[in-house]
Amino acid sequence: MKVIVIIPTYNEAKNIGRMLDILVKEEIPQVKKHNVEVLVVDSHSPDGTAEIVREKMKKYRAVHILETDKGGLGADYAKGMKYAIKEMKADAVIEFDADFQHDPKDIKRLIAGMDETGAGQVIGSRYVAGGGVPKAWGWNRKAMSFFGGLFARVVLLINVHDLTSGFKLTKTSFLERVDLDNLLSKSYAYKLHITHDIAKMGAKIVEVPIIFYERKEGVSKISRKDLVDSLMVVAKLRLRGSKRFIKFGIVGFVGYTINALGLRFFAQSSLTSYLAGTFAYLDNYPGLGIVAESSAWAGAFGAELAIVSNFLFNNFWTFAAKKITNPIQFVIKFLQFNLSSIAAVIVQFIVIGTSVKLFGDTEKVRQFALVAAIIFIIVPLNYTIYNVFIWKTWKLPILGRLSLRRPSASGTK
Ligand code: GDD
Ligand code: MN
Repeated sequence: MKVIVIIPTYNEAKNIGRMLDILVKEEIPQVKKHNVEVLVVDSHSPDGTAEIVREKMKKYRAVHILETDKGGLGADYAKGMKYAIKEMKADAVIEFDADFQHDPKDIKRLIAGMDETGAGQVIGSRYVAGGGVPKAWGWNRKAMSFFGGLFARVVLLINVHDLTSGFKLTKTSFLERVDLDNLLSKSYAYKLHITHDIAKMGAKIVEVPIIFYERKEGVSKISRKDLVDSLMVVAKLRLRGSKRFIKFGIVGFVGYTINALGLRFFAQSSLTSYLAGTFAYLDNYPGLGIVAESSAWAGAFGAELAIVSNFLFNNFWTFAAKKITNPIQFVIKFLQFNLSSIAAVIVQFIVIGTSVKLFGDTEKVRQFALVAAIIFIIVPLNYTIYNVFIWKTWKLPILGRLSLRRPSASGTK
């Protein structure tokens, strides 16, 4: 695994040199199983932070720098993450502070946590047994940090004790599916957005206790505005989540209705009786007889209609922000969507065909068979297929990407 430690810096001249020495000379060599490198994302610090980093880069091959305009912690992290994924081919990235509030010694513990559990994200957590915050923090800062995190946890329904920790190790197979260009916060609250999205993808998230130390040199850049910002991000994530959920529900309902009407229509159409007639000679072969049932064909056609409807709705509505308009891409995406939904066509063909054979070819039997097929087979199957394929491929409409490339065997809950 290639692990990139991303260190955002703004005026950390007093810390960054010593930090890089410790990382390269003491800590990285202790991680035997993986290739660990460092990416400093400096936002043109006026105190000369970048010059110090470039000096170190002459000595250390593992140190890299990305210089950016100051866009806020979240915006700068997003740039760093994209750079680590695209240019440095990272398999995982670590979010890490330059100011020694995070102990460099904990880096190897987070990596070991990922090795042992196969988690998609490992959080350096202040609020699990063994973790802690600076003793010197006043009660109000302590309370705000703790209850802020608890609030986010309860509202977003994410089982993590320290959502706002700035020390996290994340697999890029998950991170690259987060919309880093449109994070809901350009500042500190970006981390809520990322962990939220990763959790909702079904990534396994584990927490490793860390002590968060006092800053010794320089000053914190967090401000009161960031508290409000964090609350806003939590609210937006919540709303967005339920909106998408409701949209999914409506798309599913419309899809079902179209499916049921299609089944009804095609069961009485001459097209399906013609098809059934063509295969009538197979009627006496055990197991093959359903191809001679016009209702089986009607089930398959109904499923296809629902697939077309779901595709159009999802493209232009549920995922309107990412909708595909280029005609060639559209066709490819549509074929790809069909391929991943082909199971529904086959399942309906078999289940409805078998049901009418067993219980008689009536509208009631057909519609019951449809509902049973959807609830017991198609929904569970689609859920699995979506998780494995679609969420990985929605962004890149290339048929070739339709490969079984799971984050890790145990990477999902
Ligand atoms: N490039 C860049 N741009 N770096 C920044 C910026 C920015 O706009 N703002 C801060 N940084 C860098 C700092 O130089 C430091 O290396 C790191 O990000 C953390 O910034 P601090 O200003 O020290 O943050 P903090 O100590 O108040 O907050 C820490 O703890 C919080 C939880 O209590 C961070 O780890 C937060 O992410 C975390 O939520
Ligand atoms: Mn700090």
